[in-house]
Amino acid sequence: MKKFIVGNFKMNTTLHDFAKYLDCFLPLVKECKNFVALSIPYTHMMLASQKLVSTNVVFGSQNISTEEKGAFTGEISNLMVKDLGAYFTLVGHSEIRKKFRETNEQINQKIMRALSVNLKCVLCVGETKTERNANKTKMVLKKQLEIALKGLYENELKNIIIAYEPVWAIGTGKTPTTKDIEETVDHIRQIIMDMFSQKSADKILVIYGGSVNQNNSSNILKIKNINGLLVGGACLNPVEFANIIK
Ligand code: 13P
Repeated sequence: MKKFIVGNFKMNTTLHDFAKYLDCFLPLVKECKNFVALSIPYTHMMLASQKLVSTNVVFGSQNISTEEKGAFTGEISNLMVKDLGAYFTLVGHSEIRKKFRETNEQINQKIMRALSVNLKCVLCVGETKTERNANKTKMVLKKQLEIALKGLYENELKNIIIAYEPVWAIGTGKTPTTKDIEETVDHIRQIIMDMFSQKSADKILVIYGGSVNQNNSSNILKIKNINGLLVGGACLNPVEFANIIK
């Protein structure tokens, strides 16, 4: 089955850097069978819409507003992102949850906004080190998923990809063991079963993120309940990211 590989640029690269990146990256992944997605800064989206047309790579944003339009200075809406040709948006990234105090309820609103304009969502969930040490991982994931997915119809789950990103693994070079990831992803699927059905739990795409690089990616992709990867730092090097995808 095709793997879903997403690169999250975070707040990196100028438009000029990004253009150079694509010139190097696109030929490297041209023949690749996996599904490739770039989560890029808003300022790069117009260029992406031109350069990625008729390639096997899609792009998306890293966030959207809870609101559709109006007096929300500094915000970017679902409609604006969709209008530029985005295929998806990330929602609930731990950096936004933490630095901007984004709540699970706001994440739910953002998902509703995204789905209303046919944008897919990569919903990030994951526990902090403290929560993990206190044995609260399962509880945290349950709360994050139950609130974020509240009010969704089951058939809308096809537009949701869950990214399990343990916060303590992001940018630290640390990763859980493959057994740990498999157990936690089983738990995520169990939550989806309790909320929706066994069929949805089996079908929903769940990807892993947190210190993925070209040395550990193939082992993580071998985990049987994992459908892909969300790559941060390592996606900024087009050659390394292409190696991960291949
Ligand atoms: P790193 O791959 O740099 O750990 O980042 C992961 C991440 O936050 C992707 O969204």
